[in-house]
Amino acid sequence: LDNGVARTPPMGWNTWNTFGCNINETLIRQTADAIVSNGLRDLGYKYVVVDDCWFDPNRDSQGNLQAHPQRFPSGMKSLGDYLHARGLLFGIYQVPLDKTCAQVGGAFPGATGSLNHEYQDARQFAAWGVDYLKYDWCSSTGTINDQVARFGIMRDALASTGRPIVYSINPNSYHAKTGPQRNWSDVANLWRTTEDITNAWNTGQTNGYPMGIQNIVDVTVPLAGYAAPGGFNDPDMLEVGRGGMNDTEMRSHFALWAVLAAPLMMGNDVRSANAATLAILRNANLVAINQDTLGRQAAQVSFDGTRRVLAKPLANGDVAVALFNQGGSTTTVSTTAAAVGKSGSSFTLRDAWTDATSTSTGTISASVPAHGTVVYRVSGGGTTTPPPVPTTFRLRSESS
Ligand code: DGJ
Repeated sequence: LDNGVARTPPMGWNTWNTFGCNINETLIRQTADAIVSNGLRDLGYKYVVVDDCWFDPNRDSQGNLQAHPQRFPSGMKSLGDYLHARGLLFGIYQVPLDKTCAQVGGAFPGATGSLNHEYQDARQFAAWGVDYLKYDWCSSTGTINDQVARFGIMRDALASTGRPIVYSINPNSYHAKTGPQRNWSDVANLWRTTEDITNAWNTGQTNGYPMGIQNIVDVTVPLAGYAAPGGFNDPDMLEVGRGGMNDTEMRSHFALWAVLAAPLMMGNDVRSANAATLAILRNANLVAINQDTLGRQAAQVSFDGTRRVLAKPLANGDVAVALFNQGGSTTTVSTTAAAVGKSGSSFTLRDAWTDATSTSTGTISASVPAHGTVVYRVSGGGTTTPPPVPTTFRLRSESS
């Protein structure tokens, strides 16, 4: 979406993965302080997003949304001010239909969705200083045309406020709209590609609830052609630091999200993040690859059912190459400079995890542990045409 924001994938933190509905302003403020004090803000983690359950179950007499009086007694404008004063940005959650997912599921009372309140709510968010809206289709009904229309109304409502606001949509709650995937770049800055992530490597789901890391990668890799500055595939928030995976898998998860040009939204309790978790989240090599201004998602170079090679062209002519071992035992994963879009016969490979450099005449190869991902930043030589990616724009079932 060409609205001036999300020229690279947004980075930050979201309440949902760890806290669900158990949120309040003290938690958000403490997390914001931790993001600043442990250096994450200065690496780019700026959007602090308050997910479902922040609101009063009733609108006021004018139909305005209100902060939940016990959870956010100081109000949302005050929370936004707190974040902005610390160099952070403010994100909030809402839905295009009448109930949020927590309201549909009965975990929260009321029916405060934006249906028929879109412009009023957009004005309210702008007045509170909101910089990012997560807009979540919490229903198993509605056609793809309904989704395009409803998500489009809020796009236009946000634009009418004049405030630059990242627009993050989720067409996939209740896995209603999975299957052929639409390119939503005419509607939003970010669009979820699957149902919810969980802190597991593989749940066996191909596109149902909940999705493991491997499962989300399988769905999101073919969508590489959709990503560009202003619009990115969203394979959901990070599970780094949430348990359920070993260190190799946690690192692999982060490396894959980095090369997939995914939003890097932390989902852990940042206040208590341990050294191993921070070492992953603060990997400056991977953050730089993710935030590269070319805004490309890594395209698949090769895949034999176990060894998957992905290549992300970078603005300075380098290529980030991910060597991903999906199998259950250590194996060598290999490709060549020519296969990832490089010409020439002399290259430097910088390992994003160890920061070690090596030289190569063309072979790009590593021994990779089970579920691991080695990432090399390949420089030198010249640039040729990178691997082609599909750019299908609309589904055939759409009327417009
Ligand atoms: C479904 C989304 O996929 C989650 O990320 C979260 O926003 C919940 N809804 C909130 O109810």
